Amino acid sequence: MTNLIQSNADYPQIANSQSLLHRAQRLIPSVTQTLAKGPTQYVKGVAPHYLVKGRGSHVWDADGNEFLDYNMGIGPLSLGYCYEPVDDAIRAQLESGITFSLMHPLEVEVAELIASVVPNAQSVRFSKTGCDVTTAAIRLARAHTGRENVITCGYHGWHDWTICMTDRNGGIPQSTRSMTNSFNYNDIDSLAAVINANTAAVILEPMLFEFPANQFLHKVRELCTKHGAILIFDEMWTGFRLALGGAQQHFGVTADLACYSKAIANGMPISVLAGSSEVMAHLEKDVFFFTTFGGEALSLAASRATIQELANKNVPAALERNGARLRDGYNAIARDLDMKYTRCIGMGARSMVIFDATAGDGLLVRSLLQQELIKRGILWQGMHAISYSHSDADIDYTLAAYREVLPMLKLAIAQGNVNAQLRGEPVQPVFRTVTGKK
Ligand SMILES: Cc1ncc(COP(=O)(O)O)c(C=O)c1O
Repeated sequence: MTNLIQSNADYPQIANSQSLLHRAQRLIPSVTQTLAKGPTQYVKGVAPHYLVKGRGSHVWDADGNEFLDYNMGIGPLSLGYCYEPVDDAIRAQLESGITFSLMHPLEVEVAELIASVVPNAQSVRFSKTGCDVTTAAIRLARAHTGRENVITCGYHGWHDWTICMTDRNGGIPQSTRSMTNSFNYNDIDSLAAVINANTAAVILEPMLFEFPANQFLHKVRELCTKHGAILIFDEMWTGFRLALGGAQQHFGVTADLACYSKAIANGMPISVLAGSSEVMAHLEKDVFFFTTFGGEALSLAASRATIQELANKNVPAALERNGARLRDGYNAIARDLDMKYTRCIGMGARSMVIFDATAGDGLLVRSLLQQELIKRGILWQGMHAISYSHSDADIDYTLAAYREVLPMLKLAIAQGNVNAQLRGEPVQPVFRTVTGKK
């Protein structure tokens, strides 16, 4: 990356983005199809709203401003934008067709590829979105156990059984809400308190930003086995990133079912449900899970090319190395500045900058940091989603930007004027999670 710190002397001009946003506000409720990409997650008046091009780790907005991207499509771009081997595979498939009237051989080929790298992938099915497969997994668990209750930990998509646990639960029957409980990551007692003979499934992200402590995942596995509940790993972020075989491989814990999507086709829409053939066998008879675009061939071609590239280049190791340098570099800068209230946590492939309560209002602090990084050409929401295209120079550049911005943030926190330094409305929370049983 070339000298964006110097070249972006001021905040970007975003007139085209703003005009598109005004048009969208008249027609598109919430404005966005993906909440994390929408305007509530960025400082208004400072951040761009629309991106039109990406290459490697960089993106260009509707006004022609260039940014180093740390969201990477909110996860899918594990290799980077316009990554040649994947785009070539998509182009080659396009010559023959996209969606067909019978099954496509790629369904078999990619299923075999996934079975060869994902632990316990005795059976494999495809769909389009992450919540397609988490919801199919829940339905399978209910069919297999003959029970109805599910226990969740974190975000698993927009469907009734999981989003009923948030305050954006409009339109969801109370009966559904009564069948879902939640527990806290790394708190095995919180799972032990709610799991019982009525539990069909326990679903969790095997790792979000905290590493599993005290054999947490092994204990979750044991509790599920003891109570006859199906263990589902939601591997949207860990799959094909933490290791090729995801968290199951990395932490040595086997789930009954595992769900994948974000990292497996470098941006094309596809998701995977994999797991025990005994449980998945219900898809042969009593459980219905079929959709028009499930075997769409461009995404399958992209998936084959992506998985081969992830394996051939040992991408998980590269993501860990580069991402850890950024995470640890941030923490070293914060330590040097004696900013005890902030840390960067998580795995190399996906880390997050967090602030504790002593920094003040977390949303305001994150907004100011975001604003100043945008000025320096970095598109940032608090997370570092690292792709194979993020170079050493990108990481160096980002650390240099943190070195410049964090002292300013420290001063603003000390003087209590974070809000006054914001040039627009701060970012907003996505939703509030309602824990425990209602
Ligand atoms: C952990 C996790 N599970 C499930 C989902 C849902 O995936 P999708 O948005 O593709 O339906 C997401 C999406 O962000 C996610 O992060």
